[in-house]
Amino acid sequence: MSDARIKLLFLSGPNLQLLGTREPAIYGHETLETIYERAWARALELNADMDGRQTNHEGTIVDWIGESYGFFDAILLNPGAYTHTSLAIHDAIAGAGVPTIEVHLSNIYAREEFRRHSVIASACVGSIVGFRGDGYVLAVEAVVRYLRARGKH
Ligand code: DQA
Repeated sequence: MSDARIKLLFLSGPNLQLLGTREPAIYGHETLETIYERAWARALELNADMDGRQTNHEGTIVDWIGESYGFFDAILLNPGAYTHTSLAIHDAIAGAGVPTIEVHLSNIYAREEFRRHSVIASACVGSIVGFRGDGYVLAVEAVVRYLRARGKH
């Protein structure tokens, strides 16, 4: 990568555009826009750049991950319900060669049985779950530390 500054790609999947009004008892009252603004502000404080995106489409997530190599140093990913089903997203992460951190607003391990298994987890560096919007900020901090420990600036 020509530019030494860390570049992060933050992806959010289906129904996360509804944050703010979607099941606030589970996901909180913050909108995705506000959460992304907080994560982006933290990235800037850490001298990193962040591109935040949302889509409801599995294939678009696969495309974005597949196109990330050479443009982003790491991916932060909340695939929504695709977390529990998408082998295509697992394979995109495994194939892209870009370190990926799994992020969930809710603690998926304390919810319904069908949410307790993540099919993408084994392809990820680690995960941050259960801290609502703060988890997006924490994920930025964690991944910048991870990259700096490996020589990225
Ligand atoms: C989620 C958890 C998923 O189970 C759910 O389908 C979502 C949001 C979270 O951030 O807690 O859409 O990924």
